[in-house]
Amino acid sequence: MLTLGINYGSHDSAAAIAQDGQILFAIAEERLSHKKHDGAFPAHAIRASLAHVGAKVADLDEVAFGWQPPSAARFADLRNFISGAHPMRWRSVLRDHSIRWLEEYRSDGERLFRRHFGPPRNGFKRVDHHYAHAMSAYAVSGFDEATVVVVDGRGAWEATSIWHGKGTELRLVEMFPWPNSIGLFYAQFTAWLGFEKFSDEWKVMGLAPYGGPGVDLAKFINVSDGGYSVNSRLLLDSRNGSDLSLVEEAIGPARKPDEPLSDLHRDVAWAVQDACERAEIAVINRAVSLVGSRNLCLAGGVALNSKANGLFLSRNLVDRIFIQPAAADDGVAIGAALAAPLAAGLRSREMSKAYLGPQSSPEEIEAALRTYKLCYRMLEDPAETAADLLAKGQLIGWYQGREEFGPRALGNRSILADPRDVRNRDRVNNAVKFREEWRPFAPSVLEEAGPSLFEHYHTTPFMTLTFQVRPEKKKDIAAAVHVDGSARVQSVTREQNQRYYDLIKHFAAKTGVPSVLNTSFNLKGETIVNSPFDAIRTFYTSGLDGLILDRYLIAKKPTDIN
Ligand SMILES: [Fe+2]
Repeated sequence: MLTLGINYGSHDSAAAIAQDGQILFAIAEERLSHKKHDGAFPAHAIRASLAHVGAKVADLDEVAFGWQPPSAARFADLRNFISGAHPMRWRSVLRDHSIRWLEEYRSDGERLFRRHFGPPRNGFKRVDHHYAHAMSAYAVSGFDEATVVVVDGRGAWEATSIWHGKGTELRLVEMFPWPNSIGLFYAQFTAWLGFEKFSDEWKVMGLAPYGGPGVDLAKFINVSDGGYSVNSRLLLDSRNGSDLSLVEEAIGPARKPDEPLSDLHRDVAWAVQDACERAEIAVINRAVSLVGSRNLCLAGGVALNSKANGLFLSRNLVDRIFIQPAAADDGVAIGAALAAPLAAGLRSREMSKAYLGPQSSPEEIEAALRTYKLCYRMLEDPAETAADLLAKGQLIGWYQGREEFGPRALGNRSILADPRDVRNRDRVNNAVKFREEWRPFAPSVLEEAGPSLFEHYHTTPFMTLTFQVRPEKKKDIAAAVHVDGSARVQSVTREQNQRYYDLIKHFAAKTGVPSVLNTSFNLKGETIVNSPFDAIRTFYTSGLDGLILDRYLIAKKPTDIN
C-alpha cells in the first residue's frame, strides 16, 4: 500500500510517502522553496517524495491531507463568534467569511494537486488535523499502547486533544476546542515580545531563564488540576486594529522587534514558559488518568517545547515518552500517510531516526566542487578529521547523508563546534548564525555518556528533551549549557548515525568530552541548507572555518586543507 500524506492549509507545508506503513521519505516545502515555514501548496515536496520511490501519482493507493476541508475552520470560527468564544466584530466576520470563501477556492489543495499532478486513482482523503498529529507520534512510537496528547495552536476546531492508542486503534478521548489553546496563549505573548508568532516560540523558551517570577498572567490562562482554560477574549480582542490590545493594556506596550530586551520582557518570557509548563503538566496528568497508560506520545507545535518535555520525565508523570521530531504541522504529512495503513492493520516500525529527507549523490557533490573551483581534498575518515578540527577550535559545517525531517539538525545538516570553550557560543552566534547572544546551543552526546553528563537523563535522539547538566560536568560542555544550567540534548547511537557517532567518539578520545556543540546549518532567517550549493554559499558568507561535504574537506585558504 503506497500512501502519500500532505500537510497543506496553514504553515510548514510538507509531504511524506509510506509503503505499507513505513515512512520512506518526508520533506517540508521550505527546504526546497527556501521560504521559512512555507505554507504554499507543497508541489516541490510531493514531487521529491514521488521521485524518491520512483512512483507516479497513478501508483498511489491513497493521497491524504492532514486537515479537514478548509470550510471546517470557517464554520468553527462562525460557531465561536456566535457563542462569544472568539471576540470579533460583525463587519469583520462577514468580510472574513466572504474573503475566506474565495480564498478557499483559490488555494484548494485538491484542485492544486490535480493541476500539478493529475487526479489520484482513488480520490482524496481528509484526515482530521489532530488525528493526523496524534497518528504521527503514536504510529511510529513503537508502543503497543500509549496515552497520546496533541498540543498545538489550532486545528480546524481543535486546540489540545487526548487520545488512546492501542494496537492498530487510535481513539479520541477528550478535546479542548479552539480557541482554548496553549499554543495561542504562547503565540500571542511571542508576538508581544517582538518575535514572530507560530515561528519564534523557541526564542521565548530560550529567553525565559533570564527572567523570573513577578509578572502575573493568571487573567490570560488559568491552570487547574483537571486542565487549563485560556482567556481567548483577552488574547484575541482586536480593538484598535491590534489583537494584542488587551495584552498591552494589562502588561504594557508590545516590544518592537529591534528594541533592546528589558527586565519586564525577560520576566514575561519566564511567566509564559512557566504557565505553559503548568498547563501541559495538568493536561498530561489528566490524559494519563483517563487513558491509563504511562507511555506518552506527544505531537503538535507545543510539543517542541523541550524545556516542558524534560519535566514530564523528571517529575515522573510518565515512564516512557515518544515525541514526533516533526511535532509542528510538517509532521502532519506523516500522520496523514500512516492513517490508511494503520486502519488496514499495518503497524509502522519505531521511528528511531529522523533522516527521512533527500541525500546528495557523490556526483552532485563533486560537480559542485568542480563548478565553484574550490580548495578541497578527499578525506580518508571524515569523522576523525572533523573531530581533529573541532578539538583545534575550528567551527565547521557538516553536510552528510540524508536530511533531517523536522526543525532540528541532528548531525547531517549541522554546524559543529568544541563545546568546552564557552567563547564558541559567541563565535557561532556572531560569526556564523548572526543571531541574538542569549540563544542557547545544544550538545550532541554519545548515548552511553548521557547519564554521566545530565540529571534525569533519558534517550533523546531528536533533541526534544531538556535536562539539567550535572554541576561537575558544566565546564565540559560550557558552550552548550543554558543560563539556568540546562541543555537541550541530542543523544546519538551508532545505529542512528554511524558517521556522526564516530565523530563524537573521536572527539571524546582526543579531549575526554563525549559531546559536540550542534546547531542547524543555516544563517539567521534562512532555511537549513538542502544542497551542496546551499552549504557552500553558507560557508563562504559566514565565519565558518571549514566545511565537510560528505567525504570532502573544503577550506577558505589552500593551506588549511592539509
Ligand atoms: Fe497543528
